[in-house]
Amino acid sequence: MADVCERMADVCERMADVCERMADVCEWMADVCERMADVCEWMAETTQGNAKGGYMIAIGILVSGQGSNLQAIIDNIKSGKLDAKLGCVISDKPDAFALKRAKESGVPAYYINPGSHKTYLETKRELEYVKCLQEHKVELICLAGFMRILHSDFLRTFKDRIINIHPALLPSFPGLHAQRQAFEYGVKTTGATVHFIDEGVDTGPIIIQRTVEVEDADTEEELAQRILKVEHQIYSEAIQLFAEGRLKKIGRKVKITTSD
Ligand code: GRF
Repeated sequence: MADVCERMADVCERMADVCERMADVCEWMADVCERMADVCEWMAETTQGNAKGGYMIAIGILVSGQGSNLQAIIDNIKSGKLDAKLGCVISDKPDAFALKRAKESGVPAYYINPGSHKTYLETKRELEYVKCLQEHKVELICLAGFMRILHSDFLRTFKDRIINIHPALLPSFPGLHAQRQAFEYGVKTTGATVHFIDEGVDTGPIIIQRTVEVEDADTEEELAQRILKVEHQIYSEAIQLFAEGRLKKIGRKVKITTSD
């Protein structure tokens, strides 16, 4: 019996020894994990969320409505298709669904009171928009369903750095309800346009256009939905070209230069 007890004591001692070594290993592994977490954090900061790494421009998005174009941009950034980061989103409507989308994605999102005019920002308010965009170090401003005209002060501050998406092939059907205008006119082909903003309404230099066929059986809503899908593609494409420095504005033409 004494012999058995002695052996068991011996086994216990060895097990205690093993446990001690395992505790050492666990401690060492915890240390490695902590260092790896530090490295990951550093990489995330360095690449600012971009899978490909490198510098990324900050974009500011102005919205008024549902924000499906904003969502497409957010999704394309997340999936690494678009090398940009979102600086901020500003809405002229407090209850715009776009604001909710931005907040859910962790993007700084603000409602800034546009003032009492219906179609443009009051001068004093416009300055608040500019200040907010500058505070977020925005380099490109994308209007995504933003229903107001911008003054020349705003345009001068962000010269050649403001773009818009329009649901028709400009210069046809500028202004409001472009899909309806095209549908009612009876065109066989319409589409979407991304263009720089100038002082006019939907008159700035064109960056990308893509066509959408009008089917005989289309309702206006069906047509608008197909155009919207195309908008979601070409807006990110245009932003990517801007981010790569491949848009060269010559007069009213925009030349897309080849990538290196
Ligand atoms: C889009 O059709 C865009 O072309 C137009 O306004 C609409 C905005 O849609 N300027 P959403 O808010 O991005 O869903």
